[in-house]
Amino acid sequence: MLRTLRLIPTLSRANMHSTAHNFGAAQARLKEPEDCLAFNAEFPGPCHYHQLYEESLANPDTFWTNIASQLHFKHKSDKGLEYNFDQRKGDVFVKFMDGSITNVAFNCLERNIFRGLGDKIAYKWEGNADGDYESITYNELRTKVVEFSRVLKNRGVKKGDVVGIYLPMIVELPIAMLACARIGAIHSVVFAGFSSNALAERLRQSGAKTLITCDGFYRGKKHIPLKSIADEALMICKNINHSVESTICFEHLKRVTATGAASEVAVINDEENWDNAVADSKEVSAPVEWCQAEDPLFILYTSGSTGAPKGIVHTNAGYMTSAYYSMQVTFDAKPETDVYWCMADCGWITGHTYAVYGPLLNGMTSVLFEGIPSFPDYSRTWKIVDKHQVSKLYTSPTAVRSMMAHPDHMVKDYERSKLKVIGTVGEPMNPCAWKWLNEVVGEKACAIVDTYWQTETGCHLLTSHHTAVPQQSGCGNLPFLGISPQLLDDNGKKIRGEGHGTLVVDRAWPGMMRTIWGDHKRFIDAYFSPYPGYYFTGDGAKRDDEGHYWVTGRVDDLMNVSGHLLSTAEIEAAIASHPMVVEAAVVATSHKVKGQTPYAFVTIPDTAKFSDKIVNEMKAIIRKKIGPIAVPDIIQFAPGLPKTRSGKIVRRILRKVADGEKEANLGDTSTLTDETVIHELWVNRPIKL
Ligand code: PRX
Repeated sequence: MLRTLRLIPTLSRANMHSTAHNFGAAQARLKEPEDCLAFNAEFPGPCHYHQLYEESLANPDTFWTNIASQLHFKHKSDKGLEYNFDQRKGDVFVKFMDGSITNVAFNCLERNIFRGLGDKIAYKWEGNADGDYESITYNELRTKVVEFSRVLKNRGVKKGDVVGIYLPMIVELPIAMLACARIGAIHSVVFAGFSSNALAERLRQSGAKTLITCDGFYRGKKHIPLKSIADEALMICKNINHSVESTICFEHLKRVTATGAASEVAVINDEENWDNAVADSKEVSAPVEWCQAEDPLFILYTSGSTGAPKGIVHTNAGYMTSAYYSMQVTFDAKPETDVYWCMADCGWITGHTYAVYGPLLNGMTSVLFEGIPSFPDYSRTWKIVDKHQVSKLYTSPTAVRSMMAHPDHMVKDYERSKLKVIGTVGEPMNPCAWKWLNEVVGEKACAIVDTYWQTETGCHLLTSHHTAVPQQSGCGNLPFLGISPQLLDDNGKKIRGEGHGTLVVDRAWPGMMRTIWGDHKRFIDAYFSPYPGYYFTGDGAKRDDEGHYWVTGRVDDLMNVSGHLLSTAEIEAAIASHPMVVEAAVVATSHKVKGQTPYAFVTIPDTAKFSDKIVNEMKAIIRKKIGPIAVPDIIQFAPGLPKTRSGKIVRRILRKVADGEKEANLGDTSTLTDETVIHELWVNRPIKL
């Protein structure tokens, strides 16, 4: 039942030629299952990729509602995908199976239990400390979710209310998410590495009145006093006129091995305590709340290029269908035998779709990892793969780069014979990281699947599915089923065949975002105004003569640090809040492990001295306002910033300085108001060229 690919009805050939896509040589070369076998006999996967792909575009309603029919709906309407991407024709919207009624948590839990998977392990939790381990079956997970749904009800949380979740990678995180989904509340998970200011801002923006957190956790040897950070955020909320009425705090530290000194002991009041809250709400009724297809399921904040984070809204039926299906196809999900491990944190979209909803909807057994690949040493990942006989792994190029810098025996000492698919996400996969995965980790017997997508897209947009794309470093991706990407040139004209342009999508798919929470206008302005009629990804891409896509990076003011998007404007605003700062500009520069890292140029008054003390103060502000991930590796003194006559900072030049380019290779500087500032930038560069 779960392996659905062959259940999709074949559409008439006549319908199949209506798309504008031309996969050229790739299509000619790879048409039939026999061809797929030549790539990798071991992986069945979507061998009929090109046929399925054509079908998915030719008749999307049939394609997607057939997939949705494998999930449970209390009521199904006769609607499929409805959307408008062109604001000149009216409001921009996307709907899928509008009028249908379902519940995503029910589909993740009860539906699997009714199919006989109750005693199957849903999560194998690996703690930060090697040796901290727990597992939970689907039955047990459901019991905990029901318990926590009662707690939420007892706290007055109703359908449509927003609940903030600020937890590390512990089982209580999916429990809290699923409990919200069960009662129709909207979860808004905030990454537990974010600062109190970042948490407060997200709580305020989402209007969350309830916050779920824990006392603290260890990240490697470092103790993170999460409750104190959350308490600080609640104080900040008060100051910005947002009151969070209810906090529930899980006592996590008492069940784990301490791996370092605790910096603070959390104060948890009786009424905040998770266990007390569960005991107090035993009699409360918390049945499954049947939701409309288009009711919001969750909000997840992502960086916006203008600074303020954007609350991306995903809804029930469409997100569920895309999460279920893309998980199954991309990872060749075999729930009966697979042990799957998505290494991403649930604070990001990858954790939402591919550590919680996707695997649970498919009845998978997943590893949930609290720690980091470097602790206690860089063999931890492979030790876990060996211990649980992981067969499908989802990781990131940045994690791979950090691990490949260490001796191969740290991998090879551990058994990886079950490992069949390694997915990566977040940034382009660089050839040497691919080679290391292929040769050292996979011993040439693993499929390596790059996946390109976004918080906004909810699920994969482009993948190098191993039965459709040759397994070799330097191979681009193909569109996921039902996704219709296009490349546009500078004039917004479609590029046919080979070329390089802005990556857009010309039609909707079920799992895409529906709006920005509380700011539908920004949703339209950011994603649909740049190219009317298209969803604008914000990325550039190349298409080769085989129809493969190569994402080349952001075309806006966002940078990608270790696979996480950061806004230059947000970091600049944080630096500018230092009393000495006259002006600041931040650009991305390349980094061996992180992919990119922020590099800041700061102007202070002539009378002041640019000292290490000031730099450290600025770093502390950024850490506090945004989080450690946003702290620039270098903060450089700039007596002046290069500007055009209209006052716009010329970031192209700053990027060259940050990248360590020679002063002579500047390009045209004739539009600058004051060319002399440029030389000063080189003179003040802390690492001399
Ligand atoms: O620039 C692209 C990059 O990450 C951005 C999306 O970031 P976020 O919403 O945080 O989601 C990350 C996880 C899905 C994209 O706009 N990106 C993501 N995956 C890739 C990528 N760039 C190149 N190749 C990828 N595989």
